[in-house]
Amino acid sequence: MSKKITRRQAIKIVSGAVLLPLTGCSTQFEQGNKVVFAHGVASGDPDQSSVVIWTRISGLTKPIMVDWFVATDATFKHVVSNGIFNTDSSRDYTVKIIANDLEPGQTYFYKFAVADTISPTGQTQTLPVGHIEQLVLAVTTCSNYPFGYFNAYDAIAKDASVDLVVHLGDYIYEYGVEGFGGEIGQRIGRNHQPAHEILSLDDYRKRHAQYKTDKGSLAIHARHPLVVIWDDHETANNPWMGGAKNHQANEGSWEARRLASLQAYYEWLPVRDPIKASERANYWRHYKFGDLASLITLESRHTGRSKQISYSESLPDIQSVKQAQEFAGNVINAPDREMLSKEMQHFLKEELNESVSAGRRWRIIGNQSVMAKSIAPDLDDPILNNLKNELSLEKQQKLAERTHLGKYSLPSDLDTWSGYPAARERFYHIAKDANVQDLLVISGDSHSFWQNQLFDDNGQSMGVELGATGVTSPRSIMESLGGDIMLRFDELNTANNQEIIWSDGRHLGFIRLEVNHKGTHADYITVSNVESLTYNTQVLRSVDIINRDGLLQYE
Ligand SMILES: [Fe+2]
Repeated sequence: MSKKITRRQAIKIVSGAVLLPLTGCSTQFEQGNKVVFAHGVASGDPDQSSVVIWTRISGLTKPIMVDWFVATDATFKHVVSNGIFNTDSSRDYTVKIIANDLEPGQTYFYKFAVADTISPTGQTQTLPVGHIEQLVLAVTTCSNYPFGYFNAYDAIAKDASVDLVVHLGDYIYEYGVEGFGGEIGQRIGRNHQPAHEILSLDDYRKRHAQYKTDKGSLAIHARHPLVVIWDDHETANNPWMGGAKNHQANEGSWEARRLASLQAYYEWLPVRDPIKASERANYWRHYKFGDLASLITLESRHTGRSKQISYSESLPDIQSVKQAQEFAGNVINAPDREMLSKEMQHFLKEELNESVSAGRRWRIIGNQSVMAKSIAPDLDDPILNNLKNELSLEKQQKLAERTHLGKYSLPSDLDTWSGYPAARERFYHIAKDANVQDLLVISGDSHSFWQNQLFDDNGQSMGVELGATGVTSPRSIMESLGGDIMLRFDELNTANNQEIIWSDGRHLGFIRLEVNHKGTHADYITVSNVESLTYNTQVLRSVDIINRDGLLQYE
């Protein structure tokens, strides 16, 4: 961490660069950088010549000017860019700068200053051009504060080989202290703030602020650049264009809540703002890594998604296999059910075409929920029946709900792409139109690890999918019914689904992805503990993916 330096020293630091007046009122900041910069520093959304750098100034009630510096060395002898940023309450005292005119594929260091208080130093890098040998991504998702410490973030921060962190959403959760994870939060002293379910702009800002104080969060953001997409909980559980499962009529306007959540998101994360605030929801990107890889990120929550079909409303009317087949064919598979907006689909088509014509070796898709076809398994199984007998009646009831889906071969979760099969098929058509059948899809949301293969409805191979488990969020079966039932469920689910090679809902952690021209190596890495800061990591499983004649295979 950086130490306090004097105003005179700070001026010396920028010698060689354009000298700018250092700003602010020192009396306000005598408590030191941990107070002023309580939420650390972050960087992200890089391209070949620029990157977003971010911080937040705490404890203010008046506008303030913040100095910022970008250098090629950690001692800031070689400052290449610097300036002043004005922040105030209209943006919750967050500071976000696009540092421009940088060199491609270069490591940079950055920091901020208010008077003589200097922020911690952040490290970041721009995207490369030309030939590159290797890219290392750390893939994370589902960081729920009350469930535990973000030790997976800490582990990634300590891995110096990581080029970029990709967070696939559920960066915050919207629940109050009584919600998902609340009991554990009370036990380990990580209660959600504010205590109620977040609804207003002020609520969302406070929740982002709380998450940014986690030790692992401070470490990962200071150490690596971030590419982040939102899933559902950045606003509310299971949203679609017109509402969300966790938004009720007595919680005010859905549109106002959605806009408030997105405003706070752009304030608190190191991502580029849209030109017009009204276009905040249109959040999709294409990151290009020289001749090696494209990473295209999706928006599947607020710009195109049709309402989720509800099993609680539909299942009581399904009493036979024939009725279930009709329901799956006519209702779930209705051709107008959409996941991605028309603009997003257009962007995807253009950028996949660009990726192919540029000759990049890999096309990685940053995706929210699991894409592979996932039909609930039949849970009438001798091993599971034995385990079930040891459960309380209440817990047996929880499992019984899933038994109904398995009996009729219905999708496990209608909020995933399996609840939108026509939209998934359209996604594959867009890829095929661009001559792409080598999609390397990385997915979040599920609180499980996945190793999947992807096929379209004609059985053509479309690529592979790697699913990341939660940083702290557990799979609900695991949380409520325990590891033995989770293990058997994963085994039955894998046996029941052609596209699922392996899944694991018993662990927390992240995926480390090493991409080179010969292949992609993925490590599914677990953290042993999230209820204290003492943990270790283990590689639970490793897989290698190769591209053979434009099709992806596991080795
Ligand atoms: Fe999640």
